[in-house]
Amino acid sequence: MALWSGRFTEGADAFTQRFGASLPVDQRLYAEDIAGSIAHATMLAAQGIIATADAEAITEGLQGILTDIESGALVFDVMESEDIHMAIEAELTRRVGDAGARLHTGRSRNDQVATDTRLYAKRRAGELMAANVALREALIAQAEANFDVILPGYTHLQHAQPVLFSHHMLAYVQMLARDWGRLAAARNAADACPLGAAALAGTTYPLDRFTTAEALGFDHPIPNSLDAVSDRDFLLDLIYACSVSCLHLSRLCEEIVLWSSAEFGFITLSDAYSTGSSIMPQKKNPDFAELIRGKSGRVVGDLVSLMMTLKSLPLAYNKDLQEDKEGAMDAADTLKDCYTCAAGMIATMTVNADAMAAQAKKGYLAATDVADYLAKKGLPFRRAHEVVGHLVLLCDQRGCDLEDLTLDDFKAESDLFESDIVECLNLPAIVAARTTFGGTAPAAVRAQLDAAKAQL
Ligand code: ARG
Repeated sequence: MALWSGRFTEGADAFTQRFGASLPVDQRLYAEDIAGSIAHATMLAAQGIIATADAEAITEGLQGILTDIESGALVFDVMESEDIHMAIEAELTRRVGDAGARLHTGRSRNDQVATDTRLYAKRRAGELMAANVALREALIAQAEANFDVILPGYTHLQHAQPVLFSHHMLAYVQMLARDWGRLAAARNAADACPLGAAALAGTTYPLDRFTTAEALGFDHPIPNSLDAVSDRDFLLDLIYACSVSCLHLSRLCEEIVLWSSAEFGFITLSDAYSTGSSIMPQKKNPDFAELIRGKSGRVVGDLVSLMMTLKSLPLAYNKDLQEDKEGAMDAADTLKDCYTCAAGMIATMTVNADAMAAQAKKGYLAATDVADYLAKKGLPFRRAHEVVGHLVLLCDQRGCDLEDLTLDDFKAESDLFESDIVECLNLPAIVAARTTFGGTAPAAVRAQLDAAKAQL
C-alpha cells in the first residue's frame, strides 16, 4: 500500500505503479534524502512539534537505513515504493514505528524532493569542478613538457601562422577554466533551501526554515514557497554548464582525432587510450576521443529535454517535474567520465615535435611577417600584402617555399627587401615576435602558463 493510499479503495495497477515510479532514478538521492529528513526531524523537535525522543528514534533509524543501503543489505522495490522518499519513510516506520510516522509532519514530498535534488546538484557540481581541475592539470603538464614545440596554427583548417604547442594546449585550459566558473555558478544556483515550503503554500506548524537551511549547508531558505517547490533553474544551470564543457571537450577530441591520423601524425595516443579493429590488424583507432566527441550530443540533449519539460508548466509542483533528474544525472555522469578519460588520454599521449615542425614548414606560415616587414619600412600594409601575394604565387609556380627564394627574387617584387628578410622566415623568430599580451611568444605563453597554474 502506498503511503498516500488513505482515500483510495483500489490498489495500484502494476503498470501504472511502474510507469509513475521514479525509484530507479532517484534512489541515487538516498544520502541527500536521509540528511534532509534528519535536519527536518531535529528542527521539529527543537520547535516542540514532535518529542525529542521521536526525533532521536528517527535519526537513529535513518542512520541505520543509510548504513544498510550502503552495505547493500537494504534494496528497495519499485512495486512497493514509488520513489526514494516513500521507500525510506516506509522503511523507517517499519523500523521505529510511530516516531517514523511523525517524520512527515509539516513536510511534503514537493519540498523534500526539491531539497534532495539541490543537495545532489551541489555535490555533483563540486565533483565536476575537481575533475575539471585534473584535466587542466594534464593539459598544463603537456604544455610544460613540450613548451617550445612549434606547430602550424590554423584558420579554416588551412595553415595560417606558427604557434607554440603549449599556447594551443593553454587555449583549452582557458575554456575549461571558464567551464569551472559555470559549474561554480550552477552550484551557487542550487545553494538555497526549499525545505519548509511544504506542498506549495508553507505550513501551519511553527517550522524554523533558517535552522534546516543552515543544518543542510544551504546559504539561505528560498523566500517564496511556490517558487521553492517548482523551480528547477538550478538543474538547467548545471546541465548547461555540463553541455558547454562537453562542447569544449568535443573540440579538443576532434583535434586529437585529426592529430593522431597519418595525415597529421602530431600525436601518438597511448595503447590504453586506443582500440584495434576486429578485421584490420594494422588499426589503432582513437575511439575514446571519438566517444567523448559523440557523447557531447547526448548532454546537450539532456539540456534541451529539461527546458522542454519546464516550458509552460503552471505553478507549483507538477508530476512533470519528476522528469528532471534523469537528464541531470546523465549530464553529470557523462561529463565526469569524459573529464576523466580526456585527462588520461592527454597525460599519456606522445607529442611528435618533428611531425609538427615538418608541417610548420609548409603553407607559407611566414607570409604575414614578410608583409609586416615591408609595412614597418613604410609600405602601406595593403600594398605589402599584395607584394607578398606575388611572392607566394612565385613559390607556388616553382614548387618551393619562401625560404628558398633568393634576395633577388624578393627585390624583384620590392626594393625595400634587404638581407635581413631571412629573419622573418625563421619560425622560432616569427613565434618569438608575437609578444603582445596573450600572444604566442614564449615569454607571453610562460606568463599565461603561470597564471593558469595559479588558477588551479
Ligand atoms: N518522485 C517525485 C518527483 O521526483 C517526488 C515528488 C512527488 N510529489 C507529488 N506530489 N507527487 O518529483
